[in-house]
Amino acid sequence: MSALAELELRARTELDACADETALRAWHTKYFGKQGEVSLALKKIGEVPPAEKRAYGQEANRIKESLTQAHDAKWASFKEQSLQRELTSQGLDVTLPGRPLQRGRLHLATQTLREIYAVFADLGFQIYRSREVESDENNFELLNMPPHHPARDMWDTFHTTTPGVLLRTHTSPGQIHVMRELCPEPIRVILPGMCYRYEAITPRTEIMFHQIEGLAVGEHITMADLKGTVTAFARRMFGDERKIRIRSSYFPFTEPSIEVDVDWPKEDPNADRLTKGTGWLEIMGAGMVHPVVLRNGGYDPDKFSGFAFGMGPQRIAMLKFGIDDIRQFWANDLRFLGQF
Ligand code: FA5
Repeated sequence: MSALAELELRARTELDACADETALRAWHTKYFGKQGEVSLALKKIGEVPPAEKRAYGQEANRIKESLTQAHDAKWASFKEQSLQRELTSQGLDVTLPGRPLQRGRLHLATQTLREIYAVFADLGFQIYRSREVESDENNFELLNMPPHHPARDMWDTFHTTTPGVLLRTHTSPGQIHVMRELCPEPIRVILPGMCYRYEAITPRTEIMFHQIEGLAVGEHITMADLKGTVTAFARRMFGDERKIRIRSSYFPFTEPSIEVDVDWPKEDPNADRLTKGTGWLEIMGAGMVHPVVLRNGGYDPDKFSGFAFGMGPQRIAMLKFGIDDIRQFWANDLRFLGQF
């Protein structure tokens, strides 16, 4: 056996026998220190006769590489073991599965809006985005409520410091924008978005809440189309079993006007509080677009007719999931939001 082969064999055997980091360090000094046996064997290349130099050099370098790799692997495994020992001594079980990552999710309001969009997409409605900061003209006047019209009191309003500019109290001003943009084309759109009202916060009313407006304008559109659309929507959202009620109402921008209620299960102890003892929660106002509004939008009321509705997705989610307080929507309580 050559001297180099003997050196490799011995170094390997001793490396295998190293039982801890101290032994490994000593081994390294013995073979790779300044006067280490492998270091000296490499230095000796210069002294080897020229005929053997090449073979010797290759062999010495191979042994150096192979021993270094074996040493580094052993060192890494000692480090790993000592880390595990350290963790275990602190009462940690490193074999336990990691904590699951907290995954974000869509807010219940967003989930409900998307569910409603899907229903109306199936009914052929497109989404139209309208502005949240509105003019008094669009929010009221063009909706058939001139200044000082008593019906303006139906919407408690956040006014801005700029006269005539307000936070929209409902999504209905979007009707004017849509009609003026699309006239004289037929229209079938929904207009979702946030609305603001300067009113008392209660379990069923917030000062900011979503509405989804709907608007269909064309020739020969009738109240039957409105009732059919509202009923189809309610069936899709609440299932066939849930009762809905359509009752007559008043809005200055629709004639005739209706409101739509959904029944709240009587056995729920919150039923009386939320439904003011009626057993019903209102989800939308609706009606046939008033001729004045059609004209303000550019449509000739003798030729065109239309229906409109404005619904409250937060109320719809309350009915679907039995949520007994609308304030939960914006309270940012993850224990509540995490359930949906
Ligand atoms: C309106 O806002 C009308 N613009 C609806 C309309 C549109 C009628 C088109 C006719 C034609 P109302 O104020 O009733 O109507 O509000 C409509 C719905 O918004 C209510 O049924 C309710 O679901 C929701 N809503 C109203 N006020 C609040 C509030 N403070 N908090 C939460 N949801 C509300």
